[in-house]
Amino acid sequence: MLEIFEPNREFSKNARIKNMCEYKELRMQAEEDFEGYWDRLAKEKIDWFKPYDTVLDESNAPFYKWFDGGKLNVTHQCLGRHLTTRKNKAAIIWEGEDGKKRIITYLQLYYRVNRLANLLKNQFGIKKGDRVVLYLPMIPEAAFAMLACAKIGAVHSIVFGGFSADALRDRVQDANAKLVITADGAYRRGKPYMLKPVVDEALKEGCECCSKVLIVQRNFEEIDYVPGRDYVYNEMIMNESQHCDPEPMDSEDPLFLLYTSGSTGKPKGVQHSSAGYILWAQYTMEKVFDVKENDTFWCTADVGWITGHTYIVYGPLAMGATTVMYEGVPTFPDVGRWWKMIEEHRINQFYTAPTAIRLLHKLGADEPKKYDLSSLKVLGTVGEPINPDAWMWYYNEIGGGKCSIVDTWWQTETGGHMITPLPGATPIKPGSATFPLPGIMAEIIDENGNPTPKGEKGFLCITKPWPSMIRTIWGDPDRFAKSYFGDCKKDGKPVYFSGDGAMYDDDGYIIITGRTDDVINVSGHRLGTAEIEAVLAHHQNVAEVAVVGRPDPIKGEGIFAYIVLKGEEDSIGEEIEMIQELNKQITKEIGNIAKLDDILFVPGLPKTRSGKIMRRILRSIAKGEEITQDTSTLEDPTIVGAIETLVNR
Ligand code: PRX
Repeated sequence: MLEIFEPNREFSKNARIKNMCEYKELRMQAEEDFEGYWDRLAKEKIDWFKPYDTVLDESNAPFYKWFDGGKLNVTHQCLGRHLTTRKNKAAIIWEGEDGKKRIITYLQLYYRVNRLANLLKNQFGIKKGDRVVLYLPMIPEAAFAMLACAKIGAVHSIVFGGFSADALRDRVQDANAKLVITADGAYRRGKPYMLKPVVDEALKEGCECCSKVLIVQRNFEEIDYVPGRDYVYNEMIMNESQHCDPEPMDSEDPLFLLYTSGSTGKPKGVQHSSAGYILWAQYTMEKVFDVKENDTFWCTADVGWITGHTYIVYGPLAMGATTVMYEGVPTFPDVGRWWKMIEEHRINQFYTAPTAIRLLHKLGADEPKKYDLSSLKVLGTVGEPINPDAWMWYYNEIGGGKCSIVDTWWQTETGGHMITPLPGATPIKPGSATFPLPGIMAEIIDENGNPTPKGEKGFLCITKPWPSMIRTIWGDPDRFAKSYFGDCKKDGKPVYFSGDGAMYDDDGYIIITGRTDDVINVSGHRLGTAEIEAVLAHHQNVAEVAVVGRPDPIKGEGIFAYIVLKGEEDSIGEEIEMIQELNKQITKEIGNIAKLDDILFVPGLPKTRSGKIMRRILRSIAKGEEITQDTSTLEDPTIVGAIETLVNR
């Protein structure tokens, strides 16, 4: 049985939610009067341009509408309304990997965003509803660009800088984007790297929709400019006015798209709304991180992922907090970099991924002792399950045994936290995301839709809609309905399937057990095995391929590919060459984040007589587990033994 850690008493006294009684009271309020609960919050938190008519419209489920009829602008919520009380407060503290620092106040940020909003409108003809792709490093201009889009009602779609030209092209095409905003390059691991050439490659063909590129000069590298297409942000921005009226947006108008991997097919453009999303970003910042007026909040994610959207930009700014943004890797110039930054900026809430915690633990277990980390009040983790070892080190060495760890479970599709401890209230346990937030109706059910008993794994579902939920998959509403809402209904309404497995432990705590579909999680990056397989199958010598996840002590999961070649490939030299070629193909079509950890050339794949690949067997082999499944029903039962022999070679 895992130990339980009570919240720090002193912290709880001043926390927004001070104990489990208060938490349960809120949960009850939401259960007894679901719409009333959200109605109160939406009225209290959002500065509406026009009040909404209905709280929740379920008439076209699962295409729910929240706060329909209302008008707002997310940038007014994040910037405009703070100018009376916080104009000279730091909104963003940015640190470059090279040590360069920029502090941007709320007023400065407001002006920057307005100038860029005007530039987008006046020079690039961007209008409400147009899509703009951002392919940017971790620089403040990424936040300016997101907010500038929001200001004029354009829909941003950020593509993580680790994605390749092909992946970027797919996303530009799918969103039918008019403009790409990028940078010449940035710094990583002490060296400059280039982004703009990737954009050039992406736009080479098939992107007629996108006729303009706006380039932020970050490290002033020599780059090629395409006349008539490429424009330099630094040269143009000061010519624009620093005043810009926010576009009044409907509650349900899309704020952004963010592409993520599913278990089948190509990545899907998750579409988020304006009002529900921003309400959630603020609600969770307040409840889960308990950020106070003078606190400094740091989320280490990249803005290219949902965590960066909600907890670097929208959440902290919506509540008027100071958010820290860091450009580089945690190990440059040494493994103490993050701890040094916590000391220097007196960080109060620190939010990162288990993979980073494991890495820093492994590389420098005693490093945190060299720094004063006493400013910390709340620690957070996100993106994958955290193992008790890493949790304990984080708790003791980073948090000094006095900070709650909020292990936040959520997804790109949920927009913000769903299941998480509350730092002043919830007794925490290593490895458990504990309980749903008030207003979130989470259930763990079996294949027949019945609740699972304690200790038994089931499917993690959300049985009622919530304000920040995914609204649709861009351009593919059928896929949206099919991917997330099966036949299972509760009170006549479709149930949201998260794709994750979970169970209740003996104390009723929720333990997330990992994906139940063919999605793998590598260093907190979500990848579809089908997506990787499709790339590998493109290779002329590949006859068949199956990709599975394999546990990895640092990355959480590694990528294991089983490959059947077309010809005979018997010399080691040829195998090595082939491995290099396959990885090159992955880097080209997806990006480095999908690099293969293991490739095994096999004579065949274990298949049922109907031709279905038995991935469970492949997962077991990759893990080095004994095969206990019945293999007699396989088309060729000897194949399992043959593969096992190759693994053990
Ligand atoms: O499997 C869950 C895992 O990350 C998935 C969502 O990935 P993505 O959409 O990229 O968003 C990551 C950041 C929110 C989930 O389906 N996951 C996320 N948080 C946790 C987690 N697994 C275990 N514990 C968590 N706290």
